[in-house]
Amino acid sequence: MTRHFLDLDAVTSSDIRHILDNSNARKAKRNGMAKAAPDSDSPLKGKLLAMLFEKPSTRTRVSFDVAMRQLGGETLLLNGNDTQLGRGETIADTARVLSRYVDAIMIRTTDHTNLTELAEHASVPVINGLTDRSHPCQLMADVMTFEEHKGPIKGRKIAWVGDGNNMVTSWIHAATQLEFELAIACPDEFAPSAEALSWAKSKGAKISVTTDPYEAVKGADAINADTWVSMGMEEDRAKHRHNLLAPFQVNERLLKAANADAIFMHCLPAHRGEEMTADIIDGPQSVVWDEAENRLHAQKGVLAWCFS
Ligand code: CP
Ligand code: NVA
Repeated sequence: MTRHFLDLDAVTSSDIRHILDNSNARKAKRNGMAKAAPDSDSPLKGKLLAMLFEKPSTRTRVSFDVAMRQLGGETLLLNGNDTQLGRGETIADTARVLSRYVDAIMIRTTDHTNLTELAEHASVPVINGLTDRSHPCQLMADVMTFEEHKGPIKGRKIAWVGDGNNMVTSWIHAATQLEFELAIACPDEFAPSAEALSWAKSKGAKISVTTDPYEAVKGADAINADTWVSMGMEEDRAKHRHNLLAPFQVNERLLKAANADAIFMHCLPAHRGEEMTADIIDGPQSVVWDEAENRLHAQKGVLAWCFS
């Protein structure tokens, strides 16, 4: 069976936990090793990952590349516009062709249906490197980071403040699968995916949605922020978005309203003075650089799982 990593609602909670355990173990073993040195077991020796990007990326692109090298494999970087996809070749045909050349495909795409169509027609594992719907690889790194700083996430309270975007969908999936509380504060106009919320509700997840950021962060162990204008939305009334989202900025007053030892999380890239003030992201409660580093370790867990 081909193992795709498409979304956290489609991976079992025990598999999510297995991926996290493997990521943590690999991180612990690398302590002090040169970045270019492979992991001692090189489990993906001889494997080739194609990385297909239809949107920009720093972390996803570099962490997957380094992860493959450390696992003993290699990567191939494809820019969507430079392939025949940019001239109208179908996703299905691209999936069939790439499957003849490479052992797995990671894709960052504008439209989530491109991801599912790719997975449907590929005979090799497909990994979601961010779509307009979700960003599950980021969530693996985020859960790993939360647990490093705060212990097991089960039963804890995480607040999301800002746009109800693709990251929130993955947080909703993770909260449901790993049984933690998620309190989302966002303007009505930018509410999270109704489909994700209804799936979570059907599974008995503890998820609330409010327009009051102070209500969401009360008792929270972590506050999450993300850009107010996600990739691909730059043309969509950016000024209007900024106006509606301004009251959701994470600043000193809002952080103080959470638990005293709450951590600040952000998937990056960040915009100081918008979704959070500089003193928060650069302050002592911020764990954003650990999140960025953990993309590498979490990616290794995801890749090893896809090939196992
Ligand atoms: N967080 C994240 O996915 O970053 P990039 O857009 O740089 O890949
Ligand atoms: N919501 C952001 C996440 C970036 C990693 C975006 O889609 O642009």
